[in-house]
Amino acid sequence: MTDSTKAVEYVRSNGKRFLDELKEFVAIPSVSTLDEHKPDVRRAADWVATQLRSIKMKKVMIMPTKGHPVVYGEWLGAGKSAPTVMIYGHYDVQPVDPIQLWKSDPFKPVARGEYLFARGASDMKGQVVASIKAVEAIMRTEGKLPVNIKWLVEGEEEIGSEHLDEFIKKNKKLLACDFCLNPDAGMIAADKPTITTGLRGLAYFELYVYGPDKDLHSGLFGGTIHNPAQALIELIAGMHDKNGKITLPGFYDNVRKLSKKEHEDFKRLPTSNKELIQMTGVPALWGEPKFIPAERVGARPTLEVNGLLSGFTGQGSKTVLPAWAMAKISCRLVPDQTPEETEKQLRAYLKEHAPKTIKWKLTNLHNAGAALTNTESAGVKALSKALETVWGKRPYFKREGGSIGSVVLLQKYVGADSLLTGFGLPDDNVHSPNERLHLPTWYKGIEAFTRFFYNF
Ligand code: BES
Ligand code: MN
Repeated sequence: MTDSTKAVEYVRSNGKRFLDELKEFVAIPSVSTLDEHKPDVRRAADWVATQLRSIKMKKVMIMPTKGHPVVYGEWLGAGKSAPTVMIYGHYDVQPVDPIQLWKSDPFKPVARGEYLFARGASDMKGQVVASIKAVEAIMRTEGKLPVNIKWLVEGEEEIGSEHLDEFIKKNKKLLACDFCLNPDAGMIAADKPTITTGLRGLAYFELYVYGPDKDLHSGLFGGTIHNPAQALIELIAGMHDKNGKITLPGFYDNVRKLSKKEHEDFKRLPTSNKELIQMTGVPALWGEPKFIPAERVGARPTLEVNGLLSGFTGQGSKTVLPAWAMAKISCRLVPDQTPEETEKQLRAYLKEHAPKTIKWKLTNLHNAGAALTNTESAGVKALSKALETVWGKRPYFKREGGSIGSVVLLQKYVGADSLLTGFGLPDDNVHSPNERLHLPTWYKGIEAFTRFFYNF
């Protein structure tokens, strides 16, 4: 099987139906972090399983974990001499809030211009459907594939793949493969096909600061009681110095230095400060002055406040000294930092700096390791060639700032490297209101994946 013509023709003539099916999938509100959506998360798993069965995958199973299930499927008819490619995806999505900023219902997909708007359209139901449709094109036109494939589609990626560790450890044999195609990493721009060569890790925490045992009258008690909201923001403010460096003790000890060559590679990337400003709407950029933005995102660790909560936030005013304050704080990590060390460092910082006037409690919500991937493998070559055929230019190689739990877990338990790519764009509004998918790029992506399987 060396000629992809028929399969590519199939992709080109079935685009409209592919989009209809993607619309069905994104209409399922599979928000993994919210209990009220548990049945929807399950429906999304069923949807994936039904698709895999319809393209003649074998052993399609919805495998339980202690959290949301994993959808597995395989087709191993290419024989022992052909490689076995795992295809990774996640069918869960991020919450939709702030909902009032959406121009249309996040779970009623609509196409406007060249985009499909819906939660999960880009991250990553569109990418999952792209992989399924590429395989469908080959199965329907040839009845077989040039490689063996295994599907691993999880439902907890957006909440840190909490139960995937145990799942992969337990199912090492079932999941054995040569490498994993992971289209959850996106591309630099619509005209710049991209292979991602590294991801940051993540350590995510909730920090509570407790003061009085109930909310108090701020006139009667203000001035004698340390306000927990103030104490919390004082602690947070101290976590960075004036130059944007993180002050947790030992935080940078294991940060791997960039080589000259890596630095040169980063400098060659076509990311412009102006574009970043335009895309995000900020008046100016921020961050460590010694590193360019692509490095700050791809190769430097961060500490972010994801959310703050305390006191009275309703309409009008209420003079109150709140009993507690809470912050969601996360660190993006780079090789060779670990989430476990980061937690120790954060605790050490809090022990040292928390005032006697309050109590604090830190909980680790989830973790993901940082990863670098092999850039010389047969998979990378096959994908480069496919991307070059479709886009007419060689792909860019880039380290990305996001995290995907499965990458490190597959390296650790299965010995399989992930081939990170995808057809999401930086301005797709992932995790934000009005998430969208650029359809012309998506169609190209389906064609590229179809060609990819023939390049071994
Ligand atoms: N698709 C992203 C990860 C990503 C983003 C990779 C940008 C490359 C570039 C993924 O769905 C995601 O958002 N992951 C979470 C994981 C976390 C909860 C452990 C993330 O990075 O915040
Ligand atoms: Mn994703």
